[in-house]
Amino acid sequence: MRVQNFKDNKHDAQKFYHTDTFFNTFKAWITMNDWNDNNGPLMYLKNSHLLNFKRIILEYINSIDYSFRAKNLSKKKRNIIASWRLSKNGKKDKVYDKEAIKMNFKENCFIFANTHGFHRRGNAKENTIRETILISVRENPFSI
Ligand SMILES: [Fe+2]
Repeated sequence: MRVQNFKDNKHDAQKFYHTDTFFNTFKAWITMNDWNDNNGPLMYLKNSHLLNFKRIILEYINSIDYSFRAKNLSKKKRNIIASWRLSKNGKKDKVYDKEAIKMNFKENCFIFANTHGFHRRGNAKENTIRETILISVRENPFSI
């Protein structure tokens, strides 16, 4: 995967704090170049993968919101809105950044993260590139 940041990755859908899905799911990255403050470090809200009463309520509210918004959309568009943002337009992300762990990595690192936790691709400078090999593991929790 090659992420090229044209205009400070303003239109990057991964730039806002989000959870990939409502259950534990894992992603791994192998960095093909350094990840740093120039091309977008990994930002992760510590312990946000944990299940607690507040998170259960948030997931419930999100599921209702999703069911209304997804009603008349194509399957492709439903998938796009399925990953939930902490704030609709990312305006609160600066507040969350204060609590987040910012992770920079050297080339050839193996990173493994539970993307049920809230995370985002960090801010990047214009005309920078972040290259990775992405491995995503997601199993349907309801399959028998
Ligand atoms: Fe994600």
